[in-house]
Amino acid sequence: MREIAEIREDIAACDEELARLLARRMDGIGEIIGYKKRHGLPILQPEQEARQQKLLEGILEGNPYEEELLEVFACILRMSKKVQAKALFAQNIALIGFMGAGKSTVSHCLKDMLSMEEVETDAMVVEAEGMAITDIFAKYGEPYFRNCESNAIIELQNRRQVIISCGGGAVMRDENVENLKKSSRIVLLTATPETTLERVKDSDERPILNGHMNVEYISELMEKRRKKYEEAADIVIATDGKSVIGICEELIRKLNGMDGDKGCQ
Ligand code: S3P
Repeated sequence: MREIAEIREDIAACDEELARLLARRMDGIGEIIGYKKRHGLPILQPEQEARQQKLLEGILEGNPYEEELLEVFACILRMSKKVQAKALFAQNIALIGFMGAGKSTVSHCLKDMLSMEEVETDAMVVEAEGMAITDIFAKYGEPYFRNCESNAIIELQNRRQVIISCGGGAVMRDENVENLKKSSRIVLLTATPETTLERVKDSDERPILNGHMNVEYISELMEKRRKKYEEAADIVIATDGKSVIGICEELIRKLNGMDGDKGCQ
């Protein structure tokens, strides 16, 4: 039987070795990003993640600590993704675009793929006001909602490496664009009026479109907003007919200057 001091010494030695190994693993993550960028390889490779997971499950099968160790590795993976995100983005990513452009969907996917935090300006307003967007419009009117939206954007100024999904009308105010630009690269997602209608037609949470769920109205409003969207954007991504993961990959490449666009670091 070992003495307690000896057991503790052994545990400390394990920690030391683990810390060294984990740092080496993180260095590897940084190297992989550099390699992928140099060779123009896709940054997001969910198949590789699945392969690695299978390998680990095989290694740990039957291990008395199987469940716990798999959880430790899940945490390591999350942290590796954070390191990856830091290597890719120094700032926030602000997603803008018309209702139904795919801002929330793209945000959720980026969050999973890069373990980044995500916030929605609409959700911030709902939380601050304690009521749904449609109720805010109905009770206080649109200008009140727009002020809440501007306040939400101001609140986000000191954050970094967060995905900000902006309400569709947010960048109509120049002040919001200026505030977003202080800490974010701005990504405009676009979709045709037809695709947009297809994506929003069953939603009753968008007061701007209530009673106007048709291509003509969407098309007209989109056109009115186009200039402001385009002026605010650092990069533009058309989303029609593309997979979410494909859109995220395009976004990462463009923000990192891998598609001939200016990088963000
Ligand atoms: C709006 C878009 C909505 C929401 C509000 C107003 C707009 O956000 O902010 O209903 O003016 O385009 P989504 O673009 O996320 O639907």
